[in-house]
Amino acid sequence: MGKIIIDCDPGHDDAFAIMLAVRHLEVLGITTVGGNSPLEKTTLNALKILEALGREDIPVHAGHACPLVVPLVTAPMFHGESGLDGPVLPQPRRGPAQGHGVDFLIDTIMAHPDLSLVATGPLTNVAAALGREPRIASRLKEIALMGGSATYGNWTPTAEFNIFVDPEAAWKVFEAGVPIKMCGLNLTQQACVTPREFTRIAAVPTRTGKLAAELLTFFMASSIKAAGIKGCDLHDALAVAWLIRPGLITSAPMHVTVELKGEYTRGMTVCDYRHLRSDKPGVDLARSDFYPPRGRKPNAEVGLELDFEGFIDLLLETLASLP
Ligand code: RIB
Ligand code: CA
Repeated sequence: MGKIIIDCDPGHDDAFAIMLAVRHLEVLGITTVGGNSPLEKTTLNALKILEALGREDIPVHAGHACPLVVPLVTAPMFHGESGLDGPVLPQPRRGPAQGHGVDFLIDTIMAHPDLSLVATGPLTNVAAALGREPRIASRLKEIALMGGSATYGNWTPTAEFNIFVDPEAAWKVFEAGVPIKMCGLNLTQQACVTPREFTRIAAVPTRTGKLAAELLTFFMASSIKAAGIKGCDLHDALAVAWLIRPGLITSAPMHVTVELKGEYTRGMTVCDYRHLRSDKPGVDLARSDFYPPRGRKPNAEVGLELDFEGFIDLLLETLASLP
């Protein structure tokens, strides 16, 4: 079973990432970051979710409250004032573990070579860990992250929220040389749960199925109101689903970097996929050394297509097999 750490900002879709992870992977710990909500709330929400899943054995370490350079921006319009509005969850019996989240990331990655890091919030903690201990870049198997987009943004016309909140951190992570699986909006907006899927999820007769239904009830309503879409996108769950069932996602290697200076494009993930042009049929991307003018060697697998029905099946079987 793959060993992972999840760095997150729960967050309704972060909660679904955690559900999938605890059922199918070995979660060594969770680190939290300021993002959807302030750090205090994302940390409390991570504790609440793990307690609801019966997994108080998994430590939660609070990380950075604020981005590396700019002030924190949050998303209460999607996740509510608590950051996890909808379900009524008791105050957790335990608090966060001793030790900063960045120290936990460094110590755990150094102790467990070949670990996958799942990041579903702003990349502040991940960038800080890479900056403090660069050796973790060569010890990590990969970083599977939800962030960015190969097309358009959600927080601005060009920037996705997680990257927009801390673009400097995201730039450091994409430049660090760690193999990256990027779940950008172009992929994660294909994971849109509508009333059709909600009905199937709400019928799962477990406590976790009930929690999922309560989370979705709020998240669907807030997403429809705030973004005018037809349901709610389970963005973060795909970063974990990719590790559990790789066949669900079709991807391509690309060089990705983050715009830091553009007046209209700050926080944009600039994905170079010129080598995917259809007039270059048969280019074996895995071995191709063809790079467009001023192109750079790919540093990420960028998710392009989701088997949505397969993802929903994974979600349903996971919810049914949790308490
Ligand atoms: O843009 C979507 C991302 O922003 C998701 O990770 C969601 O939880 C929010 O953090
Ligand atoms: Ca998130």
